[in-house]
Amino acid sequence: MKQITINEQERNAVYKTIYNRRDTRGQFLPDAVDEAVLARILRAAHHAPSVGFMQPWDFVVIKDASIKEQIKAGFNEAHAEAAMMFEGEKRANYQKYKLEGITEAPLGICITCDRKRTGPVVIGRTANPEMDLYSSVCAVQNFWLAARAENLGVGWVSIIHHQHLRQVLNIPDDIVPIAYLCLGHVEFFHEKPELEKAGWLPRMAIEELTHYDQWNCKKEET
Ligand SMILES: Cc1cc2nc3c(=O)[nH]c(=O)nc-3n(C[C@H](O)[C@H](O)[C@H](O)COP(=O)(O)O)c2cc1C
Repeated sequence: MKQITINEQERNAVYKTIYNRRDTRGQFLPDAVDEAVLARILRAAHHAPSVGFMQPWDFVVIKDASIKEQIKAGFNEAHAEAAMMFEGEKRANYQKYKLEGITEAPLGICITCDRKRTGPVVIGRTANPEMDLYSSVCAVQNFWLAARAENLGVGWVSIIHHQHLRQVLNIPDDIVPIAYLCLGHVEFFHEKPELEKAGWLPRMAIEELTHYDQWNCKKEET
């Protein structure tokens, strides 16, 4: 069987996509997303890894402005609740950030997880049943990177209660909404995460997060 190897140029393209992917909130343009491009991105999401090849995801594509408005109302409510959870300056800063582009983005995509798909016993999910949720998150990441490779922006909006998404999108109670994503062309991509630029948090050093053999060994012995 012929093996597919990734050449240097292709490898560089993958890293370029990873490092230049951004969460997009305020830069969406109204231009429509080409249907063939959307189909490629959705197909990339569908080719994510999944526990026991369970493929627990579904994709709800939202174009209707009135549905987006209802989603936005759910964001507004959850956002107001969230602000009260921060104290002092943090609260003021939180309230200043733009954390969604729900109505501006031409498309909304809700990626879900059907926890019952393929039956009660799934290879790889026996010790840790939450692996199905992680699988749907893998689909989100594929979606995000494929969109970036198509030069489209994606914003993940998690400040909405699941029950609100279920109600507005008519999602059954036993299906878990994993991500509400805004998708569209963008004016520009930020070079760094907006929260980093705003001074909310810095990017952590990889050396601080890498452990060797056991949790308490941070530096590789030379
Ligand atoms: C699970 C998840 C939920 C997120 N929810 C939100 C959100 O509700 N609103 C928002 O503005 N960004 C959200 N983000 C984006 C993060 O803030 C962003 O990924 C992070 O600040 C790093 O920036 P970057 O994605 O541009 O690299 C979310 C990201 C993840 C992975």
